[in-house]
Amino acid sequence: MLKKISVDDLKPGMVVLKCDKEWLRLAFFGRSIENLDIIKILKNYGVTYVYIESDNEIAEENSLKNDPEGDLFVNSNDTKKYSATIENVSYIQRIYKTTLEIVSDIMNDLRNGGEIFYEDVSMVVEQFLEECFKRPNLVASVARIKNIEDYELSHAMNVSVLNMALARRMGMDIEEMKLIGIGGLLHDIGKVKIPKTILDKPGKLTEEEFNIVKMHPKYGADMLKNRFPKMVTECVLFHHEKANGTGYPFNLKDMQIPKCAKITSVSDVYDALTSDKVYRDGSSAPKAISEMLHSAGLQFNNILIKLFVEIMGGYPSGTLVLLDTGELAVVFKENNKDPKFPLVVVITDKNQKNINPYLFDLSEYNLLTKKPYKTILAPLDNKKYNVDPNRVIDMFTNSTSMEERYG
Ligand SMILES: [Fe+2]
Repeated sequence: MLKKISVDDLKPGMVVLKCDKEWLRLAFFGRSIENLDIIKILKNYGVTYVYIESDNEIAEENSLKNDPEGDLFVNSNDTKKYSATIENVSYIQRIYKTTLEIVSDIMNDLRNGGEIFYEDVSMVVEQFLEECFKRPNLVASVARIKNIEDYELSHAMNVSVLNMALARRMGMDIEEMKLIGIGGLLHDIGKVKIPKTILDKPGKLTEEEFNIVKMHPKYGADMLKNRFPKMVTECVLFHHEKANGTGYPFNLKDMQIPKCAKITSVSDVYDALTSDKVYRDGSSAPKAISEMLHSAGLQFNNILIKLFVEIMGGYPSGTLVLLDTGELAVVFKENNKDPKFPLVVVITDKNQKNINPYLFDLSEYNLLTKKPYKTILAPLDNKKYNVDPNRVIDMFTNSTSMEERYG
């Protein structure tokens, strides 16, 4: 049953279904309210009253349905703690660069037949641990640093840092974060035993060559066995397994793959997709995220990929996107619950002719078909389409102009 109440009377746990502004559809409509920030958002849009689900039992049930993995997420109140300053950013960039030099020495030793010691790599990740603990989102963004001259090196660092940020978001303790960070750093260590001619081959590998490459998780795990904790060797041994069982070397399925290896797989693929290689330019971050979202449930664990997108920002506010209807839209507000379905401003018709822009919540779906009305096909380069996303967002941030526009 619907019940009309004032915005001021909203409380956490209530489910808002619609409001007095017919044109406004927000991502949290139909979901249990988590905190009172929602009231501020609604008031900013000029909303004075809302319609809520009046049956408390249904409200509770919806709340559970919408966040079945709630225990995996860090408390949303923690989000405020992740905000950073310019000083934080430059500090993290500085330690990233000095740490790269240490990792470079470790890898060179290995290539020359030397051994790898737990204490050395432990020291490397410890420099990042505290920052990953305090500000996983910021640290994850620093992992966008790319070094084309030594891809293997910066890739190892990035996977380590992304692993720790993701582990933190999953609520893991600092010791587990450290082991997962070490696992990320060493995930491809077995490649030192694969001939360079195969690793650096620009074209497609032959079946025989690919079979040789597929040995690197086993080689790596053997190098660390009995000298490194189990979680580290699991990251290395299983980081190419896929949720649907088509990975290697053991064709394990989602439930059989250790959590730390699933995390490593997400970090590994993201960094590989966004890195420039000798033979191709890397994808933009939103494009890589989009590709990975389409592999959720196939290559990656569904929950993990959502969490990762949350860290990396999904389709960040201001991204120009193409909808499956042919329309162009600008992302207005990210959707942390389901990053594929943000709140957007639709700016053109299906023929990409400019229209009077309107807000649309992509999490809205047809109750009969259970399918969303519109979905994002791909992020676009706004310069090519001559769109100024900031201007579009500004237009809808000012509630007065919205009142005039839609009354
Ligand atoms: Fe690998």
